[in-house]
Amino acid sequence: MFEQISRVPPDLILGLIAAYKADPNPNKVDLGVGVYQTEEGETPVLACVKEAEAALHRAETSKAYLGPRGVVGFNEAISNLLLGSDHPALEAGRMVTVQAPGGTGALRVAGEVVKYVRPESTIWVPNPTWPNHNALFPAAGFRLESYRYRDSATGELDFAGMLEDLGRLGPNDVVIMHACCHNPAGIDLTPEQWSQVVDLGVERQFLPLVDMAYQGFGVDLDTDATLIRLLADRAPEFIVTSSCSKNFGLYRERCGAISMVLPNQEKALDAESIINSITRGIYSMPPTHGPGIVDIILRSEELTARWHEELAAMRDRINGQRSKLVQKLKEAGVARDFSFIERQFGMFSLLGISPDEVARLRDEYSIYLVGDTRFNVAGLRDNNLDYFVSSVAEVMA
Ligand SMILES: Cc1ncc(COP(=O)(O)O)c(C=O)c1O
Repeated sequence: MFEQISRVPPDLILGLIAAYKADPNPNKVDLGVGVYQTEEGETPVLACVKEAEAALHRAETSKAYLGPRGVVGFNEAISNLLLGSDHPALEAGRMVTVQAPGGTGALRVAGEVVKYVRPESTIWVPNPTWPNHNALFPAAGFRLESYRYRDSATGELDFAGMLEDLGRLGPNDVVIMHACCHNPAGIDLTPEQWSQVVDLGVERQFLPLVDMAYQGFGVDLDTDATLIRLLADRAPEFIVTSSCSKNFGLYRERCGAISMVLPNQEKALDAESIINSITRGIYSMPPTHGPGIVDIILRSEELTARWHEELAAMRDRINGQRSKLVQKLKEAGVARDFSFIERQFGMFSLLGISPDEVARLRDEYSIYLVGDTRFNVAGLRDNNLDYFVSSVAEVMA
């Protein structure tokens, strides 16, 4: 059977990490990495997570399966985080949440849910989008199309183009939207713009599938959920996939969830039964360690307050680095206007330089960005910012 196989090329970002590791230059800078980093270049376990994990170890008496829904308290807490605990959709039982192995696992399950209900759907992603969207949905058997999002000429949101593309869609279309901190563009819609998109979706009857991977990394936990709350106010049905990888720093625990909002509780319970039967056929039972930690944190006022502080510290550091970078690029005399970096949100932005300039940064300066010019703002530290800025100024001179 396997005599036909040959080597699959490595994932671009994983290839970049390997090249960075092998680079002997002591000044090398890794801006390709997809995790938050502190000023010391570390991705530490949050203190609130450490404490909750210790409590979990003390309380846990069995590793027996918990059932397809996993940690039920976690599912409820995620619904509350997404909608705000007093949203009428929660009161009406219109939202169900089931934990999944990370945001990626949740997206894969969402693809299977759509396939179960409407296999002839077309799935639409913004251009650009997180590259894994392009792998996940075709793997579930879907045709993928893209709608306009970032105008590569200006580096800004092409909102008119986005509305025009979405305005042509209908009930057989599923539209993936990044709730906040768009990866890779860093460009988010304003609440007024989201409001227009939600109304358009209701009018055209396409299904919104919201990817929420960075709640709390943009403005704050509530503002970052604006799209989801507007949808819950106005749309009859939609799906949200969420991740605790970034905001709780639980990356390798594979902690995420799929949530569905339906017109009423009966339909929501039907949807939950479909999710459970789909996951039974993929991984049977979800991992519960990460969700158990999140459940403990969000049940405790003290740990929740600590989480809010730690989350704000990560967000503030990223936003601070954004401002410093824009300021220093200006001071270095770089003619191009990079002020958009300061108006964007989350860990990533697209620098928008040429492929040749990206290659020179890597080959001559040991600065690693993804080929589409995505860079991780959290990878910029006070001790490498000046080197990065002068290198960019030199390749752009
Ligand atoms: C846009 C987007 N969606 C989903 C995910 C999934 O994250 P995870 O599977 O680690 O929870 C990521 C992670 O980088 C992301 O950037």
